[in-house]
Parts: sequence; C-alpha cells; structure tokens
Amino acid sequence: MSPATWHNPLRDARDKRLARIAGPCALILFGVTGDLARKKLMPAVYDLANRGLLPPGFALVGFARRDWADEDFGKVVYEAVRENARTPFRESVWAQLAAGIRFVPGEFDDDAAFDQLAQVISELDTMRGTGGNHAFYLSVPPRFFPMVCQQLARSGLSQQAPHAWRRVVIEKPFGHDLASARALNSVVEEVFPHDSVFRIDHYLGKETVQNLLALRFANQLFEHISNANYVDHVQITMAEDIGIGGRAGYYDGIGAARDVIQNHLIQLMALTAMEEPVSFEAHDLRAEKEKVLSAVRLPEDLGRACARGQYVAGWQGGQLVKGYREEEGISDSSTTETFAAIKLGVDTRRWAGVPFYLRTGKRLGRRVTEIAVVFKRAPHLPFARTATEELGQNALVIRVQPDEGVTMRFGSKVPGTAMEVRDVTMDFGYGHSFTESSPEAYERLLLDVLVGDPPLFPRHREVELAWEILDPVERFWARHGRPDDYVAGTWGPASADAMMARDGRSWRRP
Ligand code: BG6
Repeated sequence: MSPATWHNPLRDARDKRLARIAGPCALILFGVTGDLARKKLMPAVYDLANRGLLPPGFALVGFARRDWADEDFGKVVYEAVRENARTPFRESVWAQLAAGIRFVPGEFDDDAAFDQLAQVISELDTMRGTGGNHAFYLSVPPRFFPMVCQQLARSGLSQQAPHAWRRVVIEKPFGHDLASARALNSVVEEVFPHDSVFRIDHYLGKETVQNLLALRFANQLFEHISNANYVDHVQITMAEDIGIGGRAGYYDGIGAARDVIQNHLIQLMALTAMEEPVSFEAHDLRAEKEKVLSAVRLPEDLGRACARGQYVAGWQGGQLVKGYREEEGISDSSTTETFAAIKLGVDTRRWAGVPFYLRTGKRLGRRVTEIAVVFKRAPHLPFARTATEELGQNALVIRVQPDEGVTMRFGSKVPGTAMEVRDVTMDFGYGHSFTESSPEAYERLLLDVLVGDPPLFPRHREVELAWEILDPVERFWARHGRPDDYVAGTWGPASADAMMARDGRSWRRP
C-alpha cells in the first residue's frame, strides 16, 4: 500500500457526509442592541435554524439595558432576520425559533438582573430541553468583559457542569496592546477554562480563507514554489469603500491597524506562511500559526517600512463623501489612522528575505480583500526586449471577497506573427464552479461554537503574538505626528506608494 492510501483513523474519524448539527443548547447574547447583533448574529442564528442545523428546542436569550419584554426582543430579532438573513424566510422555521426567544433587561453591574438571567436559563433548560449547555456571546466593548465574566461567575452561570458545557464567545478588539490583551485574557480565563473560550475573528469563518488551506495543502501544484526561491513578495490587501459610518465611538482612537491588521490581516498572513499542520484539529492548526507568527519580524527602520493615512473629503461612486474629521462624533484634531500599511519579514528557511506587505483602509477605491503571491521574474528571457515589455511578474491571487476565487497571472504569446508576450489570467470563481452559495462567516463560526469545534478560533497566544508584532509600530506612530491625508476614493496616501517604491515594487490596483 502506498503512503497515500494508508488509513489514518484520526483523519477519518469525522465523516463529512454527516451534517454537523448542534445538540440541545441556548445562546445568550450580550450586546443585542449593537450593529453586529442586528446585521450578522441574529440573521446567522435564523440561517442556521433554516438549514436544520439547530436543535428544535434551541433558545436565544438577549440581555441589554432596555425595558423590553420577550415579545419586544422577538420583534427586534424578526426585523434583523427579515432585513439581513441570507436564506429565504420560512414562517415555520421562524415560529419554532421565536418560541425559544427570551429577554432579560439589566445593566452589567446589576446582580439581580444576572440572577434573573440564571432563572430564565434554568427554566429554558426544563421547558426547551437545552440540557444545561450554554454559550455566552459577549458582543460588547471590551471594557465590559471583566464585569460580565465576574457576573457570570457570581451567578453560577459560568460554572462547568458534569454533563453539560458552558462556553464564552468574545469579539475583538482583544485589547489595544500586548499588556491589555494579557490582562483581558487572564480575566476571561479566570472564569472560563481556556478550552471554553472562543475568540471570534470572523475572517477565519470566510469560505475563501478556509480555501487557502485547501489550495496550499490539497494540491501539489503550488507548494513547492511557495518559498523564497520563487516568491518575490506577498501583498495582503483589505480595502473598504465605506467610511466609519456610525462607528465613531468604537473606531476613533483605535484606527485601521488595531481594527483589522492585528487580527484579520495577521491571521491571513499566518495561514499563507505557515507550514503544513499535522491535522486540522485546533491544537495542530494553532501550533503552526503560532510558530510562524513567532518568526515574524519588523524591519529595523520602521520609518521606511510602514505608512498611515486619514481620508479627507472626495468623490466616491459618484458621490461627494465627508472626510474622516468631518464624520459625526470625530474631533477635527483626531489623529486616528483610517489607512495603514506595514512590511513584515518571516525569519524561517521557507520565507527568509520575502517581504509580506499588509495594507488596509477605509474609503479606498473599491471594496476588495485579496492575498497576492507575486513571483520572481524568470531568470532569463530568450526574447527580444521589446517582446516582453508588457510582461509583469507571475502571480497567484486569492480573491477573498467580493467575486470570491483564485486568479493565476502568467505570460502568454499575443496572437500574430511576432513573438510578443503579455500577461494573461486564468480564473477560478466560486460562482462558476459551485452551485452552493457560501454560508456567512458568522453562520459557520456560531455553529462551531455550539458544536464545540475550536480550530477557527485564535488561541490566547496567537492574539498576544499579533500584538507583539504591532505594538512597536503603534509606538512609532505615537511619536511621529499625524497620519498623512488621502482623498476618499483613492488608494491611500502617497507615503504608502513611496514605501513600496523604495523596495522597487508597487501596490496592486485590484
Ligand atoms: C471588522 C472591522 O472586523 O471587519 C470593520 O471592525 C470592518 O471596521 C469589517 O469594516 C469588515 O468585514 P467584512 O467581512 O465586511 O470584510
């Protein structure tokens, strides 16, 4: 028998033909009045129910500082579902879900409200058969994490029970630097054992991000060229066309680097650069990510290796949009960056000398997230110089969103009598190759929490390693004035282009 056909009992243990369905459980949501709950979490709960992936007795409990009865909260969930659910609305699914909806009014420092929450949950355990299995989702600003965790401990809600599970889900930001992340981790892990803590990075729930693992580790084609011998550099871009909308309170003082580089972009980088994990089980996957993140280093001269910007008024999509400092709730002296770019190196045998450029920004030319692996030029081109003037570097581009897919760029002969070579692309698009539409990231991640499947949730150490990478950049920026302006609808400040030009490279214009 060849090694390829050896039976591996661990890998075969989970049969993909069996749908993963959550067992009896309740989801308790803190932060139900927020944007995330309305746009993503409540619709995701419905979509899971609609796909038959939640148990019939599933219960959803909201907790917030509102004078609502169960029916009022039911209406809020209903509206969120009608506005934002991915799958079609079905009355019978809604009726079943609605029967398990409860609301508890209260403040986070109110003991009586948490005692009432405990009472409601215990009644649900009996009435809906949720079996003592409870997931607490903290979609609240991190300054409230300690208080909510302590209340869950005080009221006995976090206490692990013999035949039931208690899990806590926390949303980013996981701190604003290494020290605060450590403090936060210890507060949460004092109350919940580390394997009951699920840290959400919703990028890891995206189909295309998981496809990065399939692309790298299920194929023979790409892996042997994914190293410093062949790769010139990697560009990871997360560009948004939106501004900060109504999120001034959250965003100002945080900025683009803490908002998305610390989590989404560094996670994308880790998946792109890590070695093959022994399995896709949580321990093995996280261990490989941590290994590669430990090998990441910043260039010594930070002034030449990073850039930041803030958008000023400009035209976008045919509309004149406000500058950042004119947005509601933002002071006109704010120095928060809405664009950030950094260059990182990875000190491993595979990647030594290959720069990874990460950039993100609001109000950029268009919404696109992609990972572009740009290859070195062929060592020799046996063509007349004029024949290859329009030949760029080969590239493998993973299009995370929108228009999800993968593009390969390479040179091809232009039809005609002369030997002229020009870039062409070969494309895989999800829309063309598959009939199934992709579930929303939050659908996947919520289900993972309810079935207790942790690989897609960054562990405590990963979060700290990401802050170790970013902290020196934040300190550098804090000492160096304000961000450069860029006009809304463009691709960021001139300093970002200059940063690439110093390396003889340029940003892709996706
Ligand atoms: C969030 C950031 O994590 O991701 C937001 O806080 C950003 O600022 C959002 O807009 C983008 O998510 P997506 O899935 O639309 O790319």
